[in-house]
Amino acid sequence: MEIRQDVDLTPYNSFGISARAAHFVSIGQPDELAAVFRHARQEKLRVLVLGSGSNILFVNDFPGLVLHMATRGVDLDESSGRVRVAAGEVWHDLVVTCMNKGFHGLENLALIPGTVGAAPVQNIGAYGVELGDLLVSVTVFDSAELRFRTLEREACEFDYRHSLFKQLAGADLVITEVELQLSRDWQPETSYRALSEALQQAGISEPTPQQLFDTVCQVRLSKLPDPARLGNAGSFFKNPVVSKQKYQALLADFPAMPSFPTDEPGLVKIPAAWLLDELGCKGQGRGGAAVHEQHALVLVNRNRASGEDIFMLAQDMSSKVLTRFGIALQPEVRII
Ligand code: EPU
Repeated sequence: MEIRQDVDLTPYNSFGISARAAHFVSIGQPDELAAVFRHARQEKLRVLVLGSGSNILFVNDFPGLVLHMATRGVDLDESSGRVRVAAGEVWHDLVVTCMNKGFHGLENLALIPGTVGAAPVQNIGAYGVELGDLLVSVTVFDSAELRFRTLEREACEFDYRHSLFKQLAGADLVITEVELQLSRDWQPETSYRALSEALQQAGISEPTPQQLFDTVCQVRLSKLPDPARLGNAGSFFKNPVVSKQKYQALLADFPAMPSFPTDEPGLVKIPAAWLLDELGCKGQGRGGAAVHEQHALVLVNRNRASGEDIFMLAQDMSSKVLTRFGIALQPEVRII
């Protein structure tokens, strides 16, 4: 275990913000975790666990220890369709590997940036599928008790872009491995509108896994910027969930406002991108930060933005939404 000091975090966050970590360690084996946390405890250092940093905004330098999870390993049991994956694996590579081996279910989640270990934290989801639909269990290292534990899906408390791992009760848990249930015998999930429209346009009525995967990639790439080319962290805010009454009242003033059903009958989800688009946010900027031209929910590092540029732009956006629609947007991105 090599702990480095005063490390530039630019390569470790997809916004490409040049914050610094006072201490930094990258681990390749889960059994190194006990030593890392003993050291942090001894030195009274706060620990920040990082995968590939694709859902984080550094507004400040981090004064504690950044723990970069670089563990590797994919173990697919072909008889059961269960796959156990180390936290440091790249999510999109896992999607491709499983599909190519004939095990399906992850196709809708293609091209989501980030690592496997980060996926349960925000319960990644796209085009009608959420990680929680496929997850069997998560192995965690409990840094308070210095031991490994297995949490079954129920214990992970998955919700829309939410889980136990975002709560105080999960604050001591470091995800080291994820177990998913995939299937050979597979039904495509094509209900998401942008996806069904793209399939229809391509003249595909019953997509193969590869066709569904390709279409998801095509839809994503048409709207969402590639973080390798233009720093970003995907959707900056969650889509707000409001009561049906509130939505009906808003419709009186904004008849074109779309909504999506939720699991709760009295609540609907409103696309934050629509609210922001209505306010003319696309292309607006602050310092080196800007709202993406193709998607109003995505903030980008247009020109050497500081974390504060991005944060202040996000603040402007959410206060405009609050004033106009009476809706308080919540960030999806973790802000440090
Ligand atoms: N829309 C606009 N203006 C825009 C973009 C979208 O008005 O600039 C409206 C349209 O009405 C569109 C609706 O917003 O139908 C929804 O847009 P989109 O399909 O792009 O999805 P989203 O709700 O903005 C969510 C996730 C994405 C995920 C897509 C596809 C959240 C916060 N974001 O975005 O996830 O890829 O659905 O499932 O739930 C992420 O979490 O980082 C992320 C990118």
